Amino acid sequence: MTGGGAARGLRAVGILGTGSFAPERVLTNAELAKMVDTSDEWIMTRTGISTRRIADANTATSDLAAEAGRRAIADAGIDPDEIDMIIVATATPDMLFPASACLVQSAIGLTRACAFDVSAACSGFVYSLSIAKALISSRTYDKILVIGAETLSKIVDWTDRNTCVLFGDGAGAAVLGEVEEGRGIQSVLLGSDGSLSHWLNMPGGGSRMPISHEVIDQRLHYVKMNGNNVFKYAVMAMETAALAALDQANARPEEIDLLVPHQANLRIIEAVAERIGVPMTKVFVNLDRYGNTSAASVPIALDEARREGRLKKGDLVEVVVFGGGFTWGAAVLRW
Ligand code: ACO
Repeated sequence: MTGGGAARGLRAVGILGTGSFAPERVLTNAELAKMVDTSDEWIMTRTGISTRRIADANTATSDLAAEAGRRAIADAGIDPDEIDMIIVATATPDMLFPASACLVQSAIGLTRACAFDVSAACSGFVYSLSIAKALISSRTYDKILVIGAETLSKIVDWTDRNTCVLFGDGAGAAVLGEVEEGRGIQSVLLGSDGSLSHWLNMPGGGSRMPISHEVIDQRLHYVKMNGNNVFKYAVMAMETAALAALDQANARPEEIDLLVPHQANLRIIEAVAERIGVPMTKVFVNLDRYGNTSAASVPIALDEARREGRLKKGDLVEVVVFGGGFTWGAAVLRW
């Protein structure tokens, strides 16, 4: 058991290490064109996605999450026993319960850590960052492993061309802990609008519509989405959140060294970057290779950006996300 804390001043909190992991299997647009009525040209021009990774039948979300978590701990250069808490952001947990974070705890052997999942769809990583920041900054915990992990391929309807071309599987992780004053998370904010939940959801399999032959016959155990409405709202909410988080951090868009947006659609990313005034040369994009990995997209992107040398000490980084719920959020970090 961990926890406690002292009544001293708030601490600066930042990312001490990152890691990511994706299944080996690459699914191309050409392969998808053999499964549904689509084409490489349609998918590339409408979404910017070229390939995505797909987990095999024996691989679940916690398997990807555990590997990403191990890599983040190694990158942070800390003893695994130092981890006090594991938060897994996911919309595709191994099971409704227990939390996938508990399965990760067991897989990595982080016996001191408490563990739970966060359900905020594609925004889950930023929601989890916000929780971790509050708990570390208040001295309740010292080191928290935050993981975004998904196996969307398991809940996508592979006969529905409107959705199956968009998603992919993967996991990204970050170890959060105390950093020197002036660095780390400068601001983080979150938003939700549950009245729009019906535009992006998986209706079956929960307590509203438990799994039954009828639910399966109607294919309600798969992702349902109104793509146009999601697109419009995503651009608007991400712009607003990104500007508000910058404002809270007393920073201007032109000071951003790297914008790391949720990787859902290149057109959404370009629209958000243009609206907040950040050139595409300062925007990290890897959705061409991964598709939309929901809660995993930002932590995978952060890890790749770090390994590619696009995140240097002192850089101002902004992450901005949007997803089912609807949920959204943004955070500004001094790397
Ligand atoms: N291949 C070929 N044609 C397709 C495909 C496909 N894979 N999917 C849809 N179409 C067709 C539609 O049926 C429609 O045909 P119709 O005009 O005969 O009815 C036509 O293409 C145009 O459809 P639109 O929905 O208007 O296409 P749009 O340009 O809006 O692109 C898309 C659709 C890619 C889904 C877009 O709306 C989008 O990306 N929305 C955001 C969705 C999203 O990212 N969801 C993830 C979760 S939330 C998040 O992560 C932000």
